[in-house]
Amino acid sequence: MKILNFGSLNIDLVYQVEHIARPGETIASSSHQVFAGGKGANQSAALARAGARVFHAGQVGPDGQWLVDKLAGLGVDVQHIRVGDVPTGQAIIQVDHHGQNSIVLFAGANAQIDRGAIDATLSHFGAGDILLLQNEINDVPYIMAAAAKRELRICLNPAPCDPEIRDYPLELVHWLVVNQTEAQSLVAEETPEQALAVLAAAYPHAAIVLTLGAAGVHYRTDREAFHLPAPQVEAVDTTGAGDTFIGYFLQGLTADMTARDAMTRAVQAAALCVTRPGAMDSIPAADEVD
Ligand code: RIB
Repeated sequence: MKILNFGSLNIDLVYQVEHIARPGETIASSSHQVFAGGKGANQSAALARAGARVFHAGQVGPDGQWLVDKLAGLGVDVQHIRVGDVPTGQAIIQVDHHGQNSIVLFAGANAQIDRGAIDATLSHFGAGDILLLQNEINDVPYIMAAAAKRELRICLNPAPCDPEIRDYPLELVHWLVVNQTEAQSLVAEETPEQALAVLAAAYPHAAIVLTLGAAGVHYRTDREAFHLPAPQVEAVDTTGAGDTFIGYFLQGLTADMTARDAMTRAVQAAALCVTRPGAMDSIPAADEVD
């Protein structure tokens, strides 16, 4: 069983601010740092740090080779990452003194993946393998359909969530991992718990994982449902916490842990992540989590 993560690689430009800039406001930043990021790349890094063998597929520009090298250094298989002419994706991230963030994305090379590359990559994977996807690259519905034809099991993290995701073939998904905003934008319910119930009814063959930050995480399938609390920590930067959770959760499942055990370890990993600055650099190693 192999894990393929088809996802974004971003250069994160991180600005520390007193508060997130309001419309029309100009504010000063007290620091500027450049980090490796992208929801896709972060999730591959988290899978690798948790102990999984993961293949990352995606695209960077000529300025992005260092991201590929960084993933390779963490043990991610990078043979399916292409280097093209369009610049690497960027995320402009403000982080306030509570550790909360605001992110502006420039897709760049992440939106340049052609179907030839998708088909060529998927030809290396087959029945029983797992495909992990987020929503920061182009052609996600095509990748989902092509992977399902090959009988891969799909884990979708529809982030960032846009209205078009409602038209994705979500019935093909085995694990749907959403945060509160994503759940409510998928099904337009008042509370996250209501959104969870509606998602579970709409996709009875999927496990629905609803992450709520400091309020913990819900898990629901047609056979079991439970909530796990999150450890309370002092947040420095929440960027990458969801990605850390997903990587550790999926690694746990592929290591034959129960969903409860995999999620327990994943919430610990995410809690450690928020105590450090940056995205990929803040993902803890398995021995720290254990
Ligand atoms: O989930 C965090 C990530 O979102 C950042 O690394 C940034 O690149 C954006 O994609």
